Amino acid sequence: MCGIVGILGTHQVAPVILEALKRLEYRGYDSAGIATVNAGHLDRRRALGKLVNLSDLLVHEPLAGMAGIGHTRWATHGAPTVANAHPHRAGRVAVVHNGIIENFRALRSELAAAGLAHESDTDTETIAVLTRHYMDQGMTPTEAANATLERLEGAFALAFLFEGEDDLMIGARQGSPLAVGHGDGEMYLGSDALALAPLTDRITYLDEGDRVVLTRAGASITDAQGRRANRPLTRVRLDQATVDKAGHRHFMAKEIAEQPAVLGATMAFHCTPDKSALALPERLDFTACDRLILVACGTGYYAAQVAKYWFEGVAGLPCETDIASEYRYRQPVLGARNMAVFISQSGETADTLAALRHVRGHVACSVGVINVPTSSIARESDVALPILAGPEISVASTKAFTAQLMVLLLMALKAAQDRGKLSAQQVSDHLQLLQTLPGLMRAALDREPDIAELAQGLAGVNHALFLGRGPMLPLASEAALKLKELSYIHAEGYASGELKHGPIALIDETMPVIVLAPRDSLFAKTVSNMQEVLARQGRVVLFSDRAGLAEAGAVPQSLAMPEVPEMLAPFVYAVPAQLLAYHAALARGTDVDQPRNLAKSVTVE
Ligand code: M6R
Repeated sequence: MCGIVGILGTHQVAPVILEALKRLEYRGYDSAGIATVNAGHLDRRRALGKLVNLSDLLVHEPLAGMAGIGHTRWATHGAPTVANAHPHRAGRVAVVHNGIIENFRALRSELAAAGLAHESDTDTETIAVLTRHYMDQGMTPTEAANATLERLEGAFALAFLFEGEDDLMIGARQGSPLAVGHGDGEMYLGSDALALAPLTDRITYLDEGDRVVLTRAGASITDAQGRRANRPLTRVRLDQATVDKAGHRHFMAKEIAEQPAVLGATMAFHCTPDKSALALPERLDFTACDRLILVACGTGYYAAQVAKYWFEGVAGLPCETDIASEYRYRQPVLGARNMAVFISQSGETADTLAALRHVRGHVACSVGVINVPTSSIARESDVALPILAGPEISVASTKAFTAQLMVLLLMALKAAQDRGKLSAQQVSDHLQLLQTLPGLMRAALDREPDIAELAQGLAGVNHALFLGRGPMLPLASEAALKLKELSYIHAEGYASGELKHGPIALIDETMPVIVLAPRDSLFAKTVSNMQEVLARQGRVVLFSDRAGLAEAGAVPQSLAMPEVPEMLAPFVYAVPAQLLAYHAALARGTDVDQPRNLAKSVTVE
């Protein structure tokens, strides 16, 4: 979603802000802009589409100044147009914003009644107009920004810049992340440390409700109650904050290829050095837990659905899964012995964060399974379990999915041990099995040429179905999600046994039906369902191992996967699902790392 950068610098800032915005591109955007103050004069440039358009504009109409704010906009209120692009300006103030101002219509009417007009359709412009209104009444920029912030309802990360103020920037955080960077004689604001990585490794993360007044001399932070606040200054490891494609054509390709190494590292972090036992936090205690609630969005939700099989099957623990955007609106029944787990790569997904806040005080323990350790979900959970996938830049989640599965499986083993379902030795045996996973993932990655060929066959279709049973069902949903978001082919994941209750009407000789079926305990049943599709001339593509392919009989197309222990199949079969979508996107010429309309981190409801 929207990305924010602000710099009070000692050199010209527009080119530096542009570079920082490039590092925020992965969040997803449809327009961009920069405002600077130069010798007291406030000016701005905005452009529709990719940053290259803003860059071109700046070549023809340069923007001077050593103080500036920049923004990448993912449209919420108002179409992607130049007029709706940030920074928004009203009189002497310019504002960039990530989030949604829920009461902007009321404020807008109030300002209109006072004779103050708006030029855009956005909620953000109201912030600028309101601040201008207060400044017109004689308030200083800081007083006006504070007065404005008091009036805002909703979620925001904000940066304000003022005409006549070359050494002042104001930031605010409520519901959307914002970080302060400390340079040598320079100060920065950024949506995340990635944006600021080459500028500084010294970062202060603002807390919920914080406001910050920046000058080149430093940052003055106040909390939600207006008290001076000391937030810790953390050193960000630059190797974790700087990212490149490492020779791959796309970040997605790199992130898919990283999975064997990531899974090895994730497992190592949460186990003893000899990997014979778990080393999860003591606070993660399932002894008295009577129900587990897994909540997430998108890919994280499918990881949760896979994990449900493990928590119930291995640990005998009742487990329910929920889509975060629905969770708190269905009045869920919570118990004092429940544990609630929130799965999020970014740790900032608005719905997942809201669900976490919803359960606070009503469950025994809240757990964040997150990739970004400084994220809101990490900080607000009772226990934060890092998945350690490293920065995931491609909008389509790949390595975060399998790393989430790894943490969830380790949690399930701990639950089984705490509840007396597995002995320490049995847990150790499972961990030994898990150590074979990187090798199996590599074997699956080796199938890429065959998968690329299968993807060519998909490139011309408009619809596809993925079928699975047991833990392969959420995998089918995840495979369909990947195909949809990357190639814009309509795809659905379906329970293979459920097909005949309706969707089988869709089957004809044009419909690709990709069946995910390792030779496991459910294999025979899945094959029966596949036969029902074949009998109706469906274009079946079977993903199975050698034994499964031999047993299944003739199918139009197939992919021979490595033999995998049943518990590890969801990890290994994620690889062809990801690669199929990747190569279908390549064949269709879509934007692999930044698919249309999508944002990496969805920080609005
Ligand atoms: O950062 P999160 O894991 O909370 O994000 C959740 C979803 O927005 C995310 O998984 C999304 O569905 C991905 N684009 C899927 O590839």
